[in-house]
Amino acid sequence: MDKLRWIVAAIAVVIVIAVAAGIFLMPSPGTAPAPGAPVATGYNGAVPANAMLRVPASRVYPGGAPTGLNVALSNPLASDPDAAERGKRDFDTFNCSGCHAANGGGGMGPALSDANWLYGSSPGAIYMTIVQGRANGMPAWGAMLPDRTVWELVSYIESISEKPGPQFGTTISAAPQTPPREQVPANRMQTVTPWAFTEPQPPDGTRPGG
Ligand code: HEC
Repeated sequence: MDKLRWIVAAIAVVIVIAVAAGIFLMPSPGTAPAPGAPVATGYNGAVPANAMLRVPASRVYPGGAPTGLNVALSNPLASDPDAAERGKRDFDTFNCSGCHAANGGGGMGPALSDANWLYGSSPGAIYMTIVQGRANGMPAWGAMLPDRTVWELVSYIESISEKPGPQFGTTISAAPQTPPREQVPANRMQTVTPWAFTEPQPPDGTRPGG
């Protein structure tokens, strides 16, 4: 009988130690990486929280001026020439295209490839849209995507949202056509700067580039 008691007591001690060790070793959420921890590139994805909190959520400012707000938060990957290309892959990988359609053309979610913005076109505003989500159906990705990936998406969205010329897509039946009709060739839609390839449509109606 004594022996059994000892065995039960020993098992209880082991369980208590295991649980305590588990709690002790469990990483607490939001723990910052240790200083000097290895990172993939020079950018460690850390935009200071106070800088993010001052990104305005709308363009309506008390007193008419964005005093004290951080309207000009810049993209840390702005000078990375490949960021938009990676963002384009992220856009499909994380199924942004499921709602915003391929190339951000617009579907259940609004078009991102035009010059119209619901929540602002600044890099900080696009970043906040992705991280925090927006009221009418845009999910919040902050807990899921690393900061760096979000900035890549910002780079991509900025590159495709470049406003095409005022004549883009205009259909005019008068001959000669003024202004000329323009299109982005289908094979160029798969680039990160589709509007850079806008071409006049030949008067005989043939498709540019093909
Ligand atoms: C479930 C569908 C859905 C998915 C998935 C989705 N979005 Fe959205 N997104 C929306 C909707 C809907 C809105 C408009 C929200 C509103 O009007 O409040 C929106 C808005 C936006 C805007 C703001 C556009 C503006 O005009 O200001 C951006 C930028 C954006 N999404 C980027 C993304 C990115 C990047 C991803 C992938 C990480 C993504 N979205 C995934 C539905 C989605």
